[in-house]
Amino acid sequence: MNETISVMLSRRSIRSYKTRQVSDRDLNWILEAGIYAATSRNMQAWYLTAVQNPELLKRLRDAACETMLKSDNARNREKALDPDFSPFYKAPTLIIVSGNESRNARVDCANATQNMCVAANSLGLGSCYLASFTMAFEDPAVSATLLRDLGIPDGYFPQFGVALGYAAEHPDTPHRRRDVIRIIK
Ligand SMILES: Cc1cc2nc3c(=O)[nH]c(=O)nc-3n(C[C@H](O)[C@H](O)[C@H](O)COP(=O)(O)O)c2cc1C
Repeated sequence: MNETISVMLSRRSIRSYKTRQVSDRDLNWILEAGIYAATSRNMQAWYLTAVQNPELLKRLRDAACETMLKSDNARNREKALDPDFSPFYKAPTLIIVSGNESRNARVDCANATQNMCVAANSLGLGSCYLASFTMAFEDPAVSATLLRDLGIPDGYFPQFGVALGYAAEHPDTPHRRRDVIRIIK
């Protein structure tokens, strides 16, 4: 197996992080990997926001919990009441992947997100591909202020995120379905 495939296969979703911050050098490479993902018609319909500011991270966490508290799902409500809960697992860096209004923006964002997770693994960092933290932007009143304070341009909206930091856990590889591949010669 070559190194690239090995890095792809050994990437895991990390849900526990050390407090040590990611270096600017590593962060820049990860963002660079993000913007080199394939995009529909080369539209590059994304905007990447790396958040390391503890106050903004707390606001994002709190906004997601506010939405979860209103959820029909009892487990979500329970999690939101836990002061230790974080939708990005208290990672020291959260990359918000926002998409514009073009047709395939969400696909572009997904490609960038995966590229960044793989790049993080290649640099010895843990990451987790995230969708649920975007609940932070569900309440329009809260969302408007958050989007402004995060500097996310008009017309872009958070689609996914990457929790990023040094892993404090080493999970096993989840089961991979083997009945989903067929080679026809
Ligand atoms: C579109 C998408 C959304 C995801 N959202 C979350 C999330 O909100 N929280 C989370 O802990 N993991 C999330 N994941 C990670 C998956 O749970 C994870 O990739 C899957 O369980 C397989 O584990 P692995 O990444 O270690 O191979 C998401 C993954 C994808 C592709």
